[in-house]
Amino acid sequence: MESSLAIPALTKDLVRVLIDADTISRRTDELARQINEAYADIEGPLILVGVLKGSFIFTADLCRKLTIPHVVDFIALSSYSGAETTGNVRMLMDTRENLEGRHVLIIEDILDSGNTLDYLIRNFKSRKTLSVKTIVLLDKPERHSVPVEIDWVGFTIPDVWVVGYGLDYNERYRTLPYIAEMYPQDE
Ligand code: IMP
Ligand code: MG
Repeated sequence: MESSLAIPALTKDLVRVLIDADTISRRTDELARQINEAYADIEGPLILVGVLKGSFIFTADLCRKLTIPHVVDFIALSSYSGAETTGNVRMLMDTRENLEGRHVLIIEDILDSGNTLDYLIRNFKSRKTLSVKTIVLLDKPERHSVPVEIDWVGFTIPDVWVVGYGLDYNERYRTLPYIAEMYPQDE
């Protein structure tokens, strides 16, 4: 998973590349294959719900590798300020699709404490959905404080703050093509 890719000079807050772009792409191929198989027999399109903003790049890459009928939708939530979890999830923007009677796949960037996904899975299940499953690109098992059932995980990572490929630190570094580890920050 390690790479010798140089971190650009402007990103001096970053320690190293944790997962390079090729590795992310190959893993996304595998995940898309598994999702195509899992939903091969459903009626109607699969509703993909990307959790903004962190999952927008993963959602875009994953959906372009799906061969099953699907609809792309997004939801915006907020629970973080800087690198501090508040445990208090707020819905900033709901889905455009009506989720009742649909198969829903939540696409999230990272499973950290589990607060966000716990909230979202409960919320979606209460909408008379046919099924609610979850895919996360990254999982930080050491940080879980709420048990959450995840159906697909891209990569398991240690308890470090990561940025890139959609993930940010106060809106910075979201569009790096790889996932990098940040130096611990004191604020
Ligand atoms: P949870 O609710 O604690 O599981 O947090 C999930 C959210 O926290 C994710 O959707 C991310 O937006 C954010 N998050 C957690 N860890 C990181 C990280 O290492 N880098 C960037 N964002 C993170
Ligand atoms: Mg975030």
